[in-house]
Amino acid sequence: MRIAKAIAHAGLCSRRDAERWIEQGRVAVNGTVLVTPAHVVKPGDKVTVDGMMLPETEAPRLWRYHKPKGLVTSHKDPQGRKTVFEALPEELPRVISVGRLDLNTEGLLLLTTDGALARHLELPSTGWLRRYRVRAHGRIGQADLDKLARGMTIDGVHYGPVEARIDRAQGGNVWLTLGLREGKNREVKRLAEALGLTVNRLIRVSFGPFALGDLASGQVSEVKQRVLKEQLGAKLTAELGLSSENQRLRAARGQRKS
Ligand code: URA
Repeated sequence: MRIAKAIAHAGLCSRRDAERWIEQGRVAVNGTVLVTPAHVVKPGDKVTVDGMMLPETEAPRLWRYHKPKGLVTSHKDPQGRKTVFEALPEELPRVISVGRLDLNTEGLLLLTTDGALARHLELPSTGWLRRYRVRAHGRIGQADLDKLARGMTIDGVHYGPVEARIDRAQGGNVWLTLGLREGKNREVKRLAEALGLTVNRLIRVSFGPFALGDLASGQVSEVKQRVLKEQLGAKLTAELGLSSENQRLRAARGQRKS
């Protein structure tokens, strides 16, 4: 569909108005400002007017999911192992995950309907703390764990500062809590190995403001739109189409249709 028609369809204005807005540089598709109305939009394109998503776009939804161990965080596994997406409750729409958890990692995995939201939340620059409970074989003192606070380079990969504390010893294992902001591939296991520990259980207990809490293994729980907006802040809320103005327009369109 041509861009001006898509904007008019969303109930914002007439096609002619939309063409004028495009000439005025107020319309962007996937982050690129349009200079001509001769543009065709495809399903899934992110269209914004004055930085606000078109109201017909579904608002992004976010779920907390308690990932059980033994599931691959991928839509298809070449080795045929069961994936998170095959195991999700059937009532969920098509979702993508915010980052990944390793096969045997358990705990909080965020799921969303929106690719832009997922990409934003998994960026290290978002700066959200990811907290893990870790059971590892071996012994360590707090002084050695504190080395993680300065960041560490292992096999040429630099890992940023990590908060770490010892919770308790249990037989030949220790339980630790680690808080990190980057989420690099196998980060917890690599850091533990560098300290002489072997991780044998890994549970993510929080991701930014969202906590695993008492969500049972395999269960999902949707984050309310109000909470999502509060946590994302005003700018991102507008960019992702979660603003109350967009919701008002969406609701008005729904009423007109019925
Ligand atoms: N660190 C790891 O080593 N594995 C995970 O799944 C997450 C963080």
